[in-house]
Amino acid sequence: MEPAIKYRLIKTEKDTGARLGELITPHGTFPTPMFMPVGTQATVKSLAPEELDEMGAGVILANTYHLWLQPGEDLVKEAGGLHRFMNWQKPILTDSGGFQVFSLAENRNITEEGVHFKNPANGDRMFLSPEKAMQIENDLGPDIMMSLDECPPFFESYDYIKHSVERTSRWAERGLKAHANPDWQGLFGIVQGAGYEDLRRQSAHDLVSMDFPGYSIGGLSVGESKAEMNRVLDFTAPMLPTNKPRYLMGVGSPDSLIDGVMRGIDMFDCVLPTRIARRGTCMTSHGRLTVKNAKYARDFSPIDDQCDCYTCRNYTRAYIRHLFKADESFGLRLTSYHNLYFLLHLMQKVREAIMADNLLDFRANFFEEYG
Ligand code: GUN
Ligand code: ZN
Repeated sequence: MEPAIKYRLIKTEKDTGARLGELITPHGTFPTPMFMPVGTQATVKSLAPEELDEMGAGVILANTYHLWLQPGEDLVKEAGGLHRFMNWQKPILTDSGGFQVFSLAENRNITEEGVHFKNPANGDRMFLSPEKAMQIENDLGPDIMMSLDECPPFFESYDYIKHSVERTSRWAERGLKAHANPDWQGLFGIVQGAGYEDLRRQSAHDLVSMDFPGYSIGGLSVGESKAEMNRVLDFTAPMLPTNKPRYLMGVGSPDSLIDGVMRGIDMFDCVLPTRIARRGTCMTSHGRLTVKNAKYARDFSPIDDQCDCYTCRNYTRAYIRHLFKADESFGLRLTSYHNLYFLLHLMQKVREAIMADNLLDFRANFFEEYG
């Protein structure tokens, strides 16, 4: 059987570990390294699929946890799957729900079988197991799905993390067995192990022996420092096979993206660009800009003078500030568009820099301006 998704490594940069490649999926091919906009509820908040397409999004993410609770995976399946339901014909990746259960659900209780929790919306008792996560993701129908994992706090005891990693490996094995559509959906295993090198190694070793078509690195960007995250990536990325894609979960600040790429990461996702956009904060080539500030009231320049996105080509800081002040939803649409464009184009420039073997220079120049 042909695998549902295939990674093609085009080159590894000489001076860093950065990889240029592409991921081939049933809904098309996208270049890597890639940033994936987050569409938790089967929508990247406030943006139409045509807009995501136009700004260069190659793949988007949706959440098993949210879509299971509402509207239910059976309804999405009846609609013809996520691609049809939300009118997005390019690749989709779903997270397994593990992370969301741990961060959002009430009264959760983790056992060997799975996670019991209360639905925050109505108090219903819910149970998510590795098999249930597979059934939901099979019904939702993304191109790439995640195994159910436990994402423990970074600063947990060695003993706790060891038990957690071992359980996550058993859950990955159960998920692999329960996955009904390996011919058209690729399932990734998620490496955990917090900051412990030998537990990361154990986790990577367990998962690699199960031969997933791709590997995620989880349990990072959960409150540890950037130096700490880089330390973990330095030893974890080399534990993964070079012929499979590597996805660093939940990371989306410009500096962390570049740091991750230099350590051999191919895929990233994060709510950061869209979340801060809805509060009026923009990522620009000169650092963050809060467009609501009074100093922009009469500033008729674009958000970022070096950006050629729809927002920056057509609207001023003063106008967008006015929209936020007047509580008009068009304002957060414009900032959301700009922030995603900013990260997608940052990654495009990163890919060009890898191609030209000058990522270190690119990084130095970027941070000279970004601060
Ligand atoms: N999103 C961010 N971090 C994680 C993680 O560790 N596991 C999962 N499933 N999703 C994540
Ligand atoms: Zn812009």
